[in-house]
Amino acid sequence: MGFNLAILISGKGSNMLNIVDACNNKTLSSNVKVVISNNKNSSGLAKVKEKGINTKIIDEIQIKKFEERLSKLLCEEKVDLVCLAGFMRILSESFLCNWKKKIINIHPSILPAFKGLNAVKKAIEKKVKYSGCSIHYVDKGVDTGEIIDQRIVRVSKTDNEEKLAKKILKEEHILYIKVIKTLEKEKENDKTRQ
Ligand code: GRF
Repeated sequence: MGFNLAILISGKGSNMLNIVDACNNKTLSSNVKVVISNNKNSSGLAKVKEKGINTKIIDEIQIKKFEERLSKLLCEEKVDLVCLAGFMRILSESFLCNWKKKIINIHPSILPAFKGLNAVKKAIEKKVKYSGCSIHYVDKGVDTGEIIDQRIVRVSKTDNEEKLAKKILKEEHILYIKVIKTLEKEKENDKTRQ
């Protein structure tokens, strides 16, 4: 059973575009109801518009007003799962408490290692041998919510930040689809139990 999805982005949106394609080609049963960016220059927005997806920009600086507009939009679109994908704003506790276990985020590290900004750079600096990506529920902390799933990549000696980020991003695309699929199955099972 699919979700009414909202995808929140700030930048290039490759994860978002990959989710949109997976919904369009029925790999997922969900529907992307809206793609929202806090950055009007986000390159992903233009690309997804061309695919005929509903897009919105909320560039309100003040967090309370930003979240008021966001809540209204999510309710109007009957969204029941919010996917953060390179979304560079922190959501407040009061907003999140209305969306418990309904907002997920992708992060380019094996959490709980390297939370926050520059995760790939930190992994290179620490000379880790393995890194990867995690999807977690969003709570009030930065990248601290319950981990849903992860994928691992081997870091080679010749990897720099750019090369490793590319390797991880490839895994992110696989992981995001896998996690949404799992959540769709859970939703279906919950429904049949009711
Ligand atoms: C990804 O590495 C994601 O883990 C991080 O931001 C990046 C977004 O990439 N949160 P994209 O915009 O989906 O291409």
